[in-house]
Amino acid sequence: MQRLKNIIVVGLFWGDEGKAKIVDLLTENARVVARYQGGANAGHSVEVAGKRFVLHQVPTGILHPDKICVLGAGMVIDFPKILDELYGLEKLGIDWHGRLRISPRANLVLPYHKLVEEIEERKRGIGTTKRGIDPAYRDKAARINVRIGEIGLGKVHLVKRLDNWLDEMGTLYEKSYEIEFPSAEKVADELIRVHDILGDSVHEVSSFLAEIARTTGGVLAEGAQGSMLSLNWGTYPFVTSSETTANGVGEGLGMDMRLFDEVVGLAKAFCTRVGNGPFPTEADVQTQAKLRGTGEHTYDEFGSTTGRPRRCGWFDAVVLRYVATINGLDAIALTKLDCLTGIEPLKIAVEYEGSKTFPATIAEIERVVPVYRELPGWHEDISQIHNFKKLPDAAQDYVRAIEEIANKPVKYIGVGPGREDIIIIDD
Ligand code: GDP
Ligand code: IMO
Ligand code: MG
Repeated sequence: MQRLKNIIVVGLFWGDEGKAKIVDLLTENARVVARYQGGANAGHSVEVAGKRFVLHQVPTGILHPDKICVLGAGMVIDFPKILDELYGLEKLGIDWHGRLRISPRANLVLPYHKLVEEIEERKRGIGTTKRGIDPAYRDKAARINVRIGEIGLGKVHLVKRLDNWLDEMGTLYEKSYEIEFPSAEKVADELIRVHDILGDSVHEVSSFLAEIARTTGGVLAEGAQGSMLSLNWGTYPFVTSSETTANGVGEGLGMDMRLFDEVVGLAKAFCTRVGNGPFPTEADVQTQAKLRGTGEHTYDEFGSTTGRPRRCGWFDAVVLRYVATINGLDAIALTKLDCLTGIEPLKIAVEYEGSKTFPATIAEIERVVPVYRELPGWHEDISQIHNFKKLPDAAQDYVRAIEEIANKPVKYIGVGPGREDIIIIDD
């Protein structure tokens, strides 16, 4: 049997680039799909035979009957919400039993984290998803959080650990905010209820993945968020709290990065951002409305997790070049090309005035002035096209311009939300 490729799929911009659609496509030739960071802040959507699936913590691979899905150590997991997600999938005809593997080293998002974030967001205004991501990672770094593997150690242990959190962190927060936390007993009972159902899925992941990657191949790492939301490389402080780039894979799955054959980066044919923070190519109000859509289509630019309208703008090739280096990018998957139909002219930011690189500080990023190259648009419906050469010339030129500026090949082009709405460019 031919060895399957081990592939990392990663978002190149501010999230929602259409990662799930490409992960779904690549899952055909994978054995296991693994999330390595983030948590329920992700909203990954795929449409299959007219049914729409939105995944938050469960890897997208779950939509394919025989694939194993891993939730890695680098994630922060809202355990009860996984169960809700699995029951939701069950209602849509997906059998998940025996296909889940959750790292005992993954940290928990506790109810406390969501309460704390709710209050902190009121004054801070990053515009987070309020899924408890930042407080959970903060407590992980402070070495005060609880891990999934500890739930199985029994109620006495768990209550002690949660009480420890309440004593150390809870008291601090109670002093600062008027807040009442649920008791350790109550939180422990809920975690144990979920563990009674999902406990069998809690298993070590690192050597499991290494064995597959080395023998048959077919490990597919599914990134969440996007490179510009990376804690280290994004538009800090308007970022998420994990390493969202391909570099997060080693940390989050405990894997030897040399086992991976390819890094596929996701870019939408235009840029979007949800939440606050700098966005150099953000378009004027009218153009944003055209790019966003009215909400009549499932794929219009409204958040999959929070329903918030996404900010929209032109394709930013300065960002693309910057993140290509960080991710060790091999190929680009360009989604939503169909959504540019009828928009004329099209613009791509090829550099920033006075600088070709992406600055490090928020003050500098806020000051950049993009220099645009204008390209002609097209008006034909391209959603039924499956062959690159059959695209209108202007659409081909747009894709070629991106390839040329990034000096990376575009390998996949999305022309609609469905599983089949894709053009694959063979190497
Ligand atoms: P993710 O978080 O990166 O997986 O992306 P989301 O699922 O949050 O957002 C992408 C949206 O675009 C979803 O509604 C997808 O169904 C939709 N989508 C993905 N690729 C395409 C495409 O090529 N064309 C169109 N029209 N929609 C797409
Ligand atoms: P997927 O995986 C788009 C954004 C939030 C906010 C910032 C921090 O679907 O691409 P957080 O709750 O993580 O602390 O919020 O990051 N954000 C996303 N934006 N797609 C996502 O995930 C996102 N996950 C977080 O809007 O600006
Ligand atoms: Mg999303």
